[in-house]
Formats: sequence, structure tokens, C-alpha cells
Amino acid sequence: MVKVLFVCLGNICRSPMAEAVFRDIISKKGLADQVFVDSAGTAAWHTGKEPHEGTKDILKENNISFDNMRARQINQTDFVNYDYIIAMDDQNIKDIKTDYDIPKDIVFIKLTDLLENPSVKNVPDPYFTGDFDFTYELVHKGVTNLSEMIQQKIEKSDNNG
Ligand code: 4NP
Repeated sequence: MVKVLFVCLGNICRSPMAEAVFRDIISKKGLADQVFVDSAGTAAWHTGKEPHEGTKDILKENNISFDNMRARQINQTDFVNYDYIIAMDDQNIKDIKTDYDIPKDIVFIKLTDLLENPSVKNVPDPYFTGDFDFTYELVHKGVTNLSEMIQQKIEKSDNNG
């Protein structure tokens, strides 16, 4: 099982968007049994809440489910359980490095690191920008690329054994 955790600040806008879109792609690839996905926030402010209305609206427009998704805060155990931790911006990376020990064997990157020639270095926070469309575009590209990387990894390990 490959485990992927998306992280942002509040866990109501960007990381739940990434979680839902990635889960949809993984399930359409027939890999739902082999990939586990979740999301979390560096802050606990919105714990227990559903995604932001703007995130829900764009997921609905794209026919992507967000059923049963509730915000939670990241914790040290996540760094033991997950193989990939994908943050949305430099501040998330900084906050995580300050508060948690990061094992050397996990992939801990920003979503924009998954983009070819990214036009931005961070995924803009639509909670402040109000632009859920641009954030969706970046998130969709990033998680699509991630799904291809993980699919190749799974196929390689299936072939080896
Ligand atoms: P997110 O956006 O990190 O993409 O979920 C935010 C959501 C809430 C707040 C900030 C960012 N807030 O200040 O409550």
C-alpha cells in the first residue's frame, strides 16, 4: 500500500481538493486498493469541518466526490504512516519542519515540485485569493503527475515480485 497525505494550512481548501482529485484519479486507474490518501492541516482551527464551499463547488463541477471528508491537524504519527507528504506552500514546509521530525525515507515535497515549468512556486490559497479555479488547475496537474509516478512504482514492484 502506498500512502499519500496532502497538507495545507487549514485543511479546508487546498489539501482536501488535492485529496479528492487524487483519489478520483487513482480510483479511475483501478488502484484504489493499493493507494491510501488523506489530507491534513498544519493548524487545528477547522478540525471536524467539511471542505470550504468553494472547494466543494469546484469538486461538484468536476463530478468529484468529497463524501465524509473532515478537516484534521497533521501529527507526528503521520510521518511514520505516510510515504508521500505533499505540502501546498513554503510556509507549510517551514511549519512542518519546525514542529515535527521528518524521517529521511519519506517523500516530503511541495505540490508545485510535481509540475513541469510551474508558473508559481506555491499553490495560492483560495481562502484568501478567492480563485478556486486557478488552484484547481494547479492541483489537478500536480496530482495527475503524482498518480503517474505512483502507478509506475506500483507496476515496477508488481513486475519484480
Ligand atoms: P487552506 O486555506 O490552508 O487551503 O485550507 C485556509 C483555510 C482557512 C484559513 C486559512 C487558510 N484560516 O485562516 O482559517
